[in-house]
Amino acid sequence: MNDSIHKNRIIIFDTTLRDGEQSPGASMNTKEKIEVAHQLARLGVDVMEAGFPITSPDDFEAVRTIAGEIEGPTICALARALEKDVTRAGEAIKPARRGRIHTFIATSPVHVEKKLRMTRAEVLKNAVEAVRLARTYTGDVEFSCEDAGRTDWDYIVEVLAAVIEAGATTLNIPDTVGYTVPEQFGNCIKYIREKTPGIDQCVISVHCHNDLGMAVANSLAGIRNGARQAECTINGIGERAGNASLEEIVMMLKTRKDYWGLETGIRTEEIYRTSRLVSRITGIRVQPNKAVVGANAFAHEAGIHQAGVLRDRTTYEIMTPTHVGWLGESMVLGKHSGRNALRQRLESLGFASLSSEDMERAYTRFKQLCDVKKEVFDEDLLAIVEDEILQSTATYRLVDMEIQAGMAAPPRVRVKVAISGAGAGEDDIREAECAEGDGQVDALYKALGQIAGVDVKLLDYQIESVTAGRDAQGRVKVRMTIDGHEVKGMGIATDVIVASVQAYLNALNRHVLLQRLNGAAKEVTRGL
Ligand code: KIV
Ligand code: ZN
Repeated sequence: MNDSIHKNRIIIFDTTLRDGEQSPGASMNTKEKIEVAHQLARLGVDVMEAGFPITSPDDFEAVRTIAGEIEGPTICALARALEKDVTRAGEAIKPARRGRIHTFIATSPVHVEKKLRMTRAEVLKNAVEAVRLARTYTGDVEFSCEDAGRTDWDYIVEVLAAVIEAGATTLNIPDTVGYTVPEQFGNCIKYIREKTPGIDQCVISVHCHNDLGMAVANSLAGIRNGARQAECTINGIGERAGNASLEEIVMMLKTRKDYWGLETGIRTEEIYRTSRLVSRITGIRVQPNKAVVGANAFAHEAGIHQAGVLRDRTTYEIMTPTHVGWLGESMVLGKHSGRNALRQRLESLGFASLSSEDMERAYTRFKQLCDVKKEVFDEDLLAIVEDEILQSTATYRLVDMEIQAGMAAPPRVRVKVAISGAGAGEDDIREAECAEGDGQVDALYKALGQIAGVDVKLLDYQIESVTAGRDAQGRVKVRMTIDGHEVKGMGIATDVIVASVQAYLNALNRHVLLQRLNGAAKEVTRGL
């Protein structure tokens, strides 16, 4: 076996920035991807699939920037088994200290015949040529048989043997459409391991999708049978029903080390923070009962459970919440806490590098929150800081709003917004009124639309509570098209109507930023 392959170490290959970003509505801009990439490095992933450079100039730029900025993990770029894809991927990973090209081609009958319209021999040839070309850029080349879950095993073995000859070092077996059964998938990995010439010099990897809810179980079955790399995403986001969830695989291996005897390099205390960051940036909320990172993952509702946990947490808890960085709802600060206490607390929550302006804004927000909310939890602080960071590049800023509402007539609203950066000098203050609409939020959104002078269509509106309690802060997330481009926004406030306005303005600000960065919003051309 190759020295770099450790029998008891599972390589965690995170594809949140590539397969995860392919989730409906999850696209991230370059700045957001870099923020996630830094957190993935803190989390300790071994390999980070930073994107699919051929798909757009933005994707290329994001991979190249991440390759230049992120230290620690191997930075990987995806490429179809095509010369132009591999070349682009090779260029994108050039600045990386450790770079990998991941090239793939489909091998299942339905993909080969219907999608690629190729013969099996042509597929094999393309695979080999792509791997050879990739090896001219890096010694670290991964090859995937797309839709391996529906491919006959002997053909997989034939293709893998050929790409190993050509220089592939990691061989990935994707269950692209989440079709396999754990036992069957495990046997497939075993078969490949036993039958493929040269495979003992390579890492076998698994990449499972969750269409039937089996992604994590299938990945683990693969690991049980010799796979030593698991491809996964934070919160399990990804195409359709998503990918195998990183936190579930990692915590299974850690919690049941007695069974698996395997290790990962993940700093599990960073899991919860990473989950929140990805959820905030993608706008994809984590279901409350999600394993490991859901809001209820460590909540005990039934009286009998609570009594047990009070006596000894291990009665109903198999993981220690702090091991995944779960903060709980401990009361942390109050009305009389000063800037230093807030700064220290924020530092312990992972915001060590806040600028003094961000810190000052967070402190003002914290004081305002103390006036309206009895108890301020860590969750509230995180929400404030996230919101302040979101608003810090604001072009549109809420100055004031008034609402008259009753049941007999449509609401009447007035909203005042400051616009910066429109011209030199001071902010431009604009005001608009609206006396129609399907409720207060609708009326406010109509008024904001007048101010911004853009064509807005609301696609999704979600509201949730940051913590429990009647005085909890509300978090509003919106997804909308602005002049035909899809953007997301988020706002947080104790008043959900204010949070709704903030979410709208945040989406507007992101739109402005995107326009500035790209000249036009990104066109997603996923040519698969
Ligand atoms: O699901 C899949 O097959 C993929 C490949 C590109 C590895 O994402
Ligand atoms: Zn995939």
